[in-house]
Amino acid sequence: MAGAGISTPSGIPDFRTPGSGLYSNLEQYNIPYPEAIFELAYFFVNPKPFFTLAKELYPGNYRPNYAHYFLRLLHDKGLLLRLYTQNIDGLERVAGIPPDKLVEAHGTFATATCTVCRRKFPGEDFREDVMADKVPQCRVCTGVVKPDIVFFGEELPQRFFLHVTDFPTADLLLVIGTSLEVEPFASLAGAVRSSVPRVLINRDLVGPFAWQQRYNDVAQLGDVVAGVRKVVELLDWNEEMQTLIQNEKEKHPLGDAFLFVAV
Ligand code: APR
Repeated sequence: MAGAGISTPSGIPDFRTPGSGLYSNLEQYNIPYPEAIFELAYFFVNPKPFFTLAKELYPGNYRPNYAHYFLRLLHDKGLLLRLYTQNIDGLERVAGIPPDKLVEAHGTFATATCTVCRRKFPGEDFREDVMADKVPQCRVCTGVVKPDIVFFGEELPQRFFLHVTDFPTADLLLVIGTSLEVEPFASLAGAVRSSVPRVLINRDLVGPFAWQQRYNDVAQLGDVVAGVRKVVELLDWNEEMQTLIQNEKEKHPLGDAFLFVAV
């Protein structure tokens, strides 16, 4: 289970860290209260604040960091049953985790839907508009097109319901970089069997790790990259992580700076 805390080392602010989190820095968007930026009722009145944020978060501006590549290595080793992420930055895909192993529970910029005729489009079709501060319009009915980011009150993607079989069969749960504040995602942390160890890698204790601990819970508190490095150390996977990161660096030379700044 992943949240915005795995992407802060890549330079993307999280939501709730006081001072640096997105919800503490929305004055520029001139909205009535922070969560309005992800509310449909407000979006239909004024989509501009959301698209200003979308311009910042649109895939392509940031690179995965060490934490993302650890999750990729779990996949490469055949150990990743599924990655449930709340993040909309798409960095799990960029890190090479295949879509069938991913549940992007709060949606993605990879696709977009017209809010009037409901036609679906590739998100790429509107990158230019978003970067040019233009509200994307449907090519067919001229309605406003909204990236498939899940707004408060909207249904989560169908794939989210894979949890019904994934969590009861998991034999280890990693919870990384999330405040576990938002439902129904947060409740997944309690959906693994009581015999299954749960490992939190986060700055602070959150959710059931704080108020409903189990005998076999483990909390690796502090910086997320340092915490993931500790796990890599304990698993003796340093070599493999460096090889993976080196290969990714060769594949994405332009991302070089970010890759090495972040890791
Ligand atoms: N190292 C360790 N922990 C970190 C780091 C870091 N570098 N950066 C952030 N964190 C921790 C924060 O302390 C916090 O506990 O990650 C967590 C991030 O929590 P949030 O900002 O609430 O982000 P998230 O849990 O992903 O939010 C969930 O809220 O508004 C909605 O849809 C939005 O998907 C988002 C959802």
